[in-house]
Amino acid sequence: MPDASPLLRVEHLRKVYASGRGEVEAIGDLSFTMMPGELLCVVGPSGCGKTTLLKCLAGLLRPTSGLVKMEGSPVTGPSPAMAVVFQEYGRSLYPWLTVRGNVELPLRHKKLSRAERDRRVADALDAVGLPQSARSHPWQLSGGMQQRVAIARAIAYRPEVLIMDEPFAAVDAQTRADLEDLVRDLHLNRGISTVFVTHDIDESVYLGQRVLVLSHSPTRVQEDLVIDLPRERDQLTTRALPRFTELRTHVYAQIQRAKRAPASAPHPAP
Ligand SMILES: Nc1ncnc2c1ncn2[C@@H]1O[C@H](COP(=O)(O)OP(=O)(O)O)[C@@H](O)[C@H]1O
Ligand SMILES: [Mg+2]
Repeated sequence: MPDASPLLRVEHLRKVYASGRGEVEAIGDLSFTMMPGELLCVVGPSGCGKTTLLKCLAGLLRPTSGLVKMEGSPVTGPSPAMAVVFQEYGRSLYPWLTVRGNVELPLRHKKLSRAERDRRVADALDAVGLPQSARSHPWQLSGGMQQRVAIARAIAYRPEVLIMDEPFAAVDAQTRADLEDLVRDLHLNRGISTVFVTHDIDESVYLGQRVLVLSHSPTRVQEDLVIDLPRERDQLTTRALPRFTELRTHVYAQIQRAKRAPASAPHPAP
């Protein structure tokens, strides 16, 4: 893709929080780009500034300095081009609305015909494997199913970028594996551009086409790593590949390095 231009461009992003106990420099100096259709994982230790970064990406938080550009234009406020899925699905769905009502809600801001709205809701519920649950209420569903509803709501909106903040941290291992495969499926079959934030190294390597390893706060890019695993992945065979082990060991070592000496020169890629 020599002449394709980036979808997202982050230029020297810095974020300092002013709090009662003084200033907290969460993000030191971050720069990276993302191409259309990419599945980019962002991994880093707890408290390193991952949530801060994605709030800046989505325009929910103003950077102290630096810039986020979406298709060449600076993001200066909450961006309609982005949809965010947070970890706390329990709090992100409205209990008094049905699944269908929850997925449809953001579409009310778009000028769509009734038929088009219905089509998008049905299509999104289909994509996340919940076509039968449209009339249920969120509290009648398991945690994993609720997170599927949150994902359906995001994709029905057809954002330019889907941003996910540790979305599977609160579900059990089996559910988590299924949800990871859902994200892979959306990437492969729908080409949805996704920024997936996680503190889980294995998850970042399993999901990502690229993994951005962040250093400890004040955060910098410790490494920008291409994940050269096959496009078609599955939980058993992919995780058993020697290359998977190599990559996860490498990312783990990078994070350890970042802890000892922030922003040190990265090791060569494995
Ligand atoms: N609203 C805030 N005010 C002050 N400090 C904050 C605020 N939000 C986050 N921080 C601090 O910024 C750093 C990065 O936080 P965060 O982005 O939530 O990290 P992560 O998502 O990687 O765990 C932490 O040191 C955190 O305590
Ligand atoms: Mg966070």
